[in-house]
Amino acid sequence: MSLIIAVDGPAASGKGTIAARLATAYGLPHLDTGLLYRAVGLKVLQDGGSLDDEAAATAAARGLEPAGLSDDPRLTTGEAGEAASRVAGFAGVRAALLDLQQAFAAQTGGAVLDGRDIGTVIAPGAPAKLFVTATPQVRARRRWKQLTARGIDIAFEDMLADIQRRDERDAGRGSAPMVQAQDAVLLDTTDMGIEAAFDAARRIVEAARAKHGL
Ligand code: C5P
Repeated sequence: MSLIIAVDGPAASGKGTIAARLATAYGLPHLDTGLLYRAVGLKVLQDGGSLDDEAAATAAARGLEPAGLSDDPRLTTGEAGEAASRVAGFAGVRAALLDLQQAFAAQTGGAVLDGRDIGTVIAPGAPAKLFVTATPQVRARRRWKQLTARGIDIAFEDMLADIQRRDERDAGRGSAPMVQAQDAVLLDTTDMGIEAAFDAARRIVEAARAKHGL
């Protein structure tokens, strides 16, 4: 067994930062799977299509070129996140993105993946699983601070509504809904800064390594 670390959780829970830091700490490759869905949503929009069109979204997912996605600033926008959560509900899109995520997880030596369904669908056998969360208010505050620091003008209430809408859509969909895997460890970062959250995440991974002899 290799060290696959599955990090799931809702938007702005801290899972992306935690996953990136775990990858550095353990010298593992990291895949932010949200970027795949963001790229699919954005491609549909750029082609002038509708986010309700499953066939168009599935075709975009099949044609996705994953290299270089983490360097594309257009994928970090709220518009891309919203488009991602719309197309992520389509079974065809999820099926088209399955192989590449599972191949990434299966690399010799292990990997870190973060998303919504890593511990449940992509890598259900992963020895280390974290479900990172925080209250919607705290997550909205974090996202709002990031955006206003970048000079983007958005009301906190709109940010909160956006986070809540995304949570509902991600948790309520029929296809691979966001849910904590039974064997995932819950990490609630509501009252934690990033250092404390990372330390807690590392302890969870260390316990998993000890348990599985990794
Ligand atoms: O994590 P991020 O905010 O980049 O994800 C954007 C959207 O992509 C999520 O709201 C979710 O709908 C979708 N997603 C998913 N499964 C994943 C990763 C992301 O459905 N593994």
